[in-house]
Amino acid sequence: MATNRAHFASKLGVIAATAGSAVGLGNIWRFPSEVAGNGGGAFVLIYLCCTLLIGAPIMISEFVIGRHSEANASTAFRKIAPGKPWWFIGLMGILAAFLIMGFYSVVGGWAVEYAWQAVINAFDGKSTIELQQNFELFSTSSYRPLIWIFLFVAFTALVVLAGIKEGIEKYSKILMPILFVLLLFLCIYSLTLPKAGEGLRFLFMPDFSKITSSVILSALGQSFFSLSLGMGCLITYGSYFNKKTNLPKTAVQVIIIDTLVAVLAAVAIFPSVFSFGITDAAGPTLAFISLPAIFNQMFGGYFLAVAFFFLLLVAAITSSISLLEVITAYVTETYKVSRRKATIVISLVIFILAVLSSLSLAKGELTFFGMKFFDILDGFSSKILLPLGGLFIAIFTGWVFNPTHLFQELEKGSQLSFALFRAYLFLVRYIAPLGILLVFLHQLGLFTWIESWVK
Ligand code: TRP
Repeated sequence: MATNRAHFASKLGVIAATAGSAVGLGNIWRFPSEVAGNGGGAFVLIYLCCTLLIGAPIMISEFVIGRHSEANASTAFRKIAPGKPWWFIGLMGILAAFLIMGFYSVVGGWAVEYAWQAVINAFDGKSTIELQQNFELFSTSSYRPLIWIFLFVAFTALVVLAGIKEGIEKYSKILMPILFVLLLFLCIYSLTLPKAGEGLRFLFMPDFSKITSSVILSALGQSFFSLSLGMGCLITYGSYFNKKTNLPKTAVQVIIIDTLVAVLAAVAIFPSVFSFGITDAAGPTLAFISLPAIFNQMFGGYFLAVAFFFLLLVAAITSSISLLEVITAYVTETYKVSRRKATIVISLVIFILAVLSSLSLAKGELTFFGMKFFDILDGFSSKILLPLGGLFIAIFTGWVFNPTHLFQELEKGSQLSFALFRAYLFLVRYIAPLGILLVFLHQLGLFTWIESWVK
């Protein structure tokens, strides 16, 4: 399929862009909150299993679908299985991208505010309680976050619009390793805190009594969210890969980087949560309270805080551009509108969603079924749409994609052995779909129902 589609220029560009999409607020903000809300070590263990057994094969599948079809998330399925309805997976992905951006931009806006607060030295001298109140006051005020959200969405749009992704990639190749080193620094400092042991125990000692079906679903959802899986994001990126890219190796590298960043963030955060007595109520906002509390105590904390929140912002932007790119690629290629028009209209819709979800935190209004709009967007996308998308993607590659073509595509740039291919096929045909299905059924209470019925 010869096309003149744009491609990533180098091997490092492929990793930088894909890891840039994966590493973001999901690792540093969402992962620690999910760990805290789902009982600690047991969640981490299940998260790792989901990533290895389900996330990895699905990531490879998205790459293969994208590179083989050289098309956007929906057209890709049309090209590989013409005349069949599989393209709806792509449409589900487009919907998921809108919903995710609807709350991701809110947290992105928080990161802008906190970068600013770091610059004006606003954390200095504040007690943990004050930091906590600070954050609550800010995130629940109705208008203050909106301007930052606007900036975040506008900047994301600008990058996608001006096609300066290459520029961003070039910088993120340098900046992301710095973020990594900074996180390492924070971890080392955290380990010297008085209750570091307690924090680590919470994080790494699985308490199996804490495992419930909703913990398992949360871990699965977090794994998809963090790896940018289940909505065609990596299909879109895969379509920009060239034939020399080693797909399995790229997947492994991205997964290792993404997992390391999430674990490092948690190791930085949990010792301080216990040592500074940050309360449970801070759950979803942990990172924005516990990290400033650490910076306050560290030597050179001012500079570290400025650097950290700036880099967090860069990480968030490289993720949000990947989300916006999915929708833009689909709209421009399907409806033949200009990139400019498409990006502006899509970003406006995203901004409106984000305003609504921010306001839902502010007023306690905009709740449906007793849930805040923000939480609905987050929960529905990560716990339903992404795993469902992943389920279909696994079934599609395992059972619909012609295995010979699949092998040939995977083999390009990788010299994949047939044995490894068989192992991959086994995961994608059986383990991943059954795994996701069981988690869904478990959550729906099917097993308890069967149990009670058998008794
Ligand atoms: N993975 C990113 C993060 O951890 C968020 C993200 C970017 C994403 N693209 C995605 C999540 C596609 C799901 C699907 O912050």
